[in-house]
Amino acid sequence: MSTPSPITEEAVARAVESALAAIGAVSDSASLKAARSAHAGEASALAQFNAQIRDLPGDQKAAAGKLVGQARARVNQAVAEAEERILVAEEQARLEAEAVDVTALPSRWNRGARHPLSLLMEEMSDLFVAMGWEIGEGPELEHEWFNFDALNFDEDHPARALQDTFFVEPAERHLVMRTHTSPVQIRSLLSRPLPVYVAAVGRVYRTDELDATHTPVFHQIEGIAIDKGLTMAHLRGTLEHLARAMFGEGAQIRLRPNYFPFTEPSAEMDVWQPNAKGGARWVEWGGCGMVNPNVLRSAGIDPDEYQGFAFGMGIERTLQFRNDMNDMRDMVEGDVRFSQQFGMVV
Ligand code: DAH
Repeated sequence: MSTPSPITEEAVARAVESALAAIGAVSDSASLKAARSAHAGEASALAQFNAQIRDLPGDQKAAAGKLVGQARARVNQAVAEAEERILVAEEQARLEAEAVDVTALPSRWNRGARHPLSLLMEEMSDLFVAMGWEIGEGPELEHEWFNFDALNFDEDHPARALQDTFFVEPAERHLVMRTHTSPVQIRSLLSRPLPVYVAAVGRVYRTDELDATHTPVFHQIEGIAIDKGLTMAHLRGTLEHLARAMFGEGAQIRLRPNYFPFTEPSAEMDVWQPNAKGGARWVEWGGCGMVNPNVLRSAGIDPDEYQGFAFGMGIERTLQFRNDMNDMRDMVEGDVRFSQQFGMVV
């Protein structure tokens, strides 16, 4: 052990000075701890001076004790101040790090989205409006006469049977949940002067179980055009225009003979979908035909003077094969994440 330096005013002052410099320079708890142990701890110069007082001649003890005592008090005071300063600084830094700006906008808004069926119906309606057609409407709770009779359905046509149609009580009022948008044909003819070019989109009801390809509530688009001299060529042209708007320029349509009570001749319409995910293909899209003279008569129109065509297809089905969806249930469950995939354009 080196011989301790004698307790002199200069030596004590130097020890105090270097202690104050070191303590003044600390900036965090760790460096304060080191400075405290070096300058105020057991091994510090001042502690050693203090230990030496014991061995001094009696007449020097009091003065040395006072000198060293005051020096240690100054250093301890500096340590206490530094401790306080660091505590405040560290608390401040912690608060800043943890600060939450309650006025800040959240970085992820939970954005809603319109349902792709609504977007698709709007897009189809816009296409007809652009061709000068009007948009027609009818009630979802419909009279049997509009839903069936006026459309030339026989009294015992199977579509009227209980397993397809939701009949609404009391039976003598003859109300049904409309099973198709075709009653809007009759409503359009009765409410407008001729010629009539009307497209209608809307909800329809059938007593089907919900599964991957059926839903008891679904949507259709209907079209009816009644004018002088309309032929099946006009029908074809109109549907082809719609098909190209929906499926791209390479789309085509194909008509296959079929039967509907309200059209004669009637056809099943297929669409050639050039950009289908698994490769280009024909898909059944809807029904169409030349409006049956009996339907025109129901609306008080002379079939020798006016003729026209009509068509109807399912919107869910269109969305399903156009956008490659496997399960129709996704369309009815109302999970916003389903709609969000489409953004605002289908
Ligand atoms: N209403 C028919 C259905 O729901 C679809 C349909 C077929 C509508 C032929 C028409 C048409 O306007 O001409 O199955």
